[in-house]
Amino acid sequence: MIPTVEWKEGSVWLLDQSRLPGRAELLECKDVAAVASAIQELKVRGAPAIGVTAAMGVALGAQSLSADDVSTFKRHIWAICDQLAATRPTAVNLFWALTRMKKVVEENRDCTVAEIQSRLVREALAIQREDLAMCKALGQQGAGLIKDGHSVLTHCNAGALATAGYGTALGVVRAASEQGKQVHVFANETRPVLQGARLTAWELMEDGIPVTLITDSMAAVVMRQGKIDLCVVGADRIAANGDVANKIGTYAVAVLAKAHNVPFYVAAPSSTIDVSTPSGSDIPIEERPGHEVTTMNGETWIAPKGVAVFNPAFDVTPAKYVTGIITEQGVVSPEQVADTFAN
Ligand code: MRU
Repeated sequence: MIPTVEWKEGSVWLLDQSRLPGRAELLECKDVAAVASAIQELKVRGAPAIGVTAAMGVALGAQSLSADDVSTFKRHIWAICDQLAATRPTAVNLFWALTRMKKVVEENRDCTVAEIQSRLVREALAIQREDLAMCKALGQQGAGLIKDGHSVLTHCNAGALATAGYGTALGVVRAASEQGKQVHVFANETRPVLQGARLTAWELMEDGIPVTLITDSMAAVVMRQGKIDLCVVGADRIAANGDVANKIGTYAVAVLAKAHNVPFYVAAPSSTIDVSTPSGSDIPIEERPGHEVTTMNGETWIAPKGVAVFNPAFDVTPAKYVTGIITEQGVVSPEQVADTFAN
């Protein structure tokens, strides 16, 4: 599996996800502006991967600063963080990673700028390493929920591509499969950006895990036909009351799961849990350009030009629809989120 995000020779390298599945191309980002556009344009996407990339973006920006006094350096780092924070509002991992990077500067105020620059690189690499470890651990925590022969429905891409590797929802599937269980995945295509069709289907096929692609509107029928044993999705932000923001369409899956008595699980590392946000209604929801809905690939028009479009990139699933949240610390109920993850 090609790594999603890499720090190499003083640049940030990304697998350009906007080109998948047609082409697996690496993109070199040489400055903060390139990292910010890659995040905004979904060349790298998925909450944990955005966090790792932003952290590397700070390390990258820090390298090119020539300030030799720490307070000027710090002012520039704060501006870099603001630039990266403005890319996408919903995934809390972005802000979590930037906060960690700022803390490195704060805690090393007595060091030289050169020393802080190298500590920022080390921190970004630590964030990447820890994300991979959290995904593997939560995969283990969730694997027991999947029995041999089970079919899992997922929405969007919460896989290796959306993280530093291994994945969250797909990490659970991967761990079950590594335990020797036969697992079949139904992947919702995930309109309008098609992360399910383009990325989840590609990633699972690369790994030899059986996957069936369906359009989002087919999820109800496959559930009624008894083809789904459980749903597992990722998250962009989980509020203190257990409400879950994730890719637009997740809420519909959760309601359908409830109607068909199918368990609905959310898999996420603790870096996605934001107990400072009381409930889902406090989570900022990104709205993206209308052309994602009116065109295919920004090219072929599939709607009349000039039509009004509403394109929220995420929705909030109320906690009452969530059977459990699979984290690296164990599977918790939405009601346990605030206590388990109190800062
Ligand atoms: O707009 P995207 O592709 O960044 O949205 C991604 C999702 O909604 C994922 O499900 C979520 O970030 C979890 S990824 C482990």
